[in-house]
Amino acid sequence: MSEIINIAIDGPAGAGKSTVSRRAAAHFGFIYVDTGALYRAVGLNALRLGLDTSDPIAVGGTLGSVKVSLRFIDGEQRIFLFDEDVSEAIRTPEASMAASNVSAIPSVREFLFDLQRDIAAENNCVMDGRDIGTVVLPNAKVKLFLTASPEKRAERRCAELTAKGIGEKYENVLADIIQRDYNDSHREIAPLKQADDAVLIDTTEMTLEQSVEAVISAIKERI
Ligand code: DC
Repeated sequence: MSEIINIAIDGPAGAGKSTVSRRAAAHFGFIYVDTGALYRAVGLNALRLGLDTSDPIAVGGTLGSVKVSLRFIDGEQRIFLFDEDVSEAIRTPEASMAASNVSAIPSVREFLFDLQRDIAAENNCVMDGRDIGTVVLPNAKVKLFLTASPEKRAERRCAELTAKGIGEKYENVLADIIQRDYNDSHREIAPLKQADDAVLIDTTEMTLEQSVEAVISAIKERI
């Protein structure tokens, strides 16, 4: 069997990671794994149960029965909560905040860890998240850290939400991003941080096409 190649792409919310990772994965014929969707599904489940999503005991109590799975249809990831496809439902601002909250809970991270490792062990993949290069796949062949200024990221997130018909004020989106950055990089477990051996790509001044090109060429140089 030929060597399995894993590419880890980490960075804050709205840096363009998911679009760029998806395009890079398609370029190399790899699957694209969006690990944020897993945290979002766990968060959405807790929200639907009416729980405080930052309460470790309450959220931890859902892990024995919740069923979260990823399915790849033509290389495209869909996320299932029990038997429901929640790929769209996990994208609301409420689900984003719930995801950020539950992702700080150690039992949630542990719960999702094996799922991520197992997918990477069996597939050539581009996996994006916050701790892929540092914790989930420390031996990934290529590690990239994608970032951009908070203002630029808020601008992009607004455009994305508008395209999906979800209206949200720029100020609210920016405040959300700043809050999530803070949560994600200050939590005790697996905080968002660049791995020592990751390549930093700042996309603030780049168009989407330029970001995709920068990522593809950084990967090409290393595989
Ligand atoms: O990438 P995203 O916005 O869909 O991620 C949702 C939340 O999940 C985000 O606040 C950080 C968290 N997350 C994480 O802690 N670890 C990951 N590997 C991916 C996402």
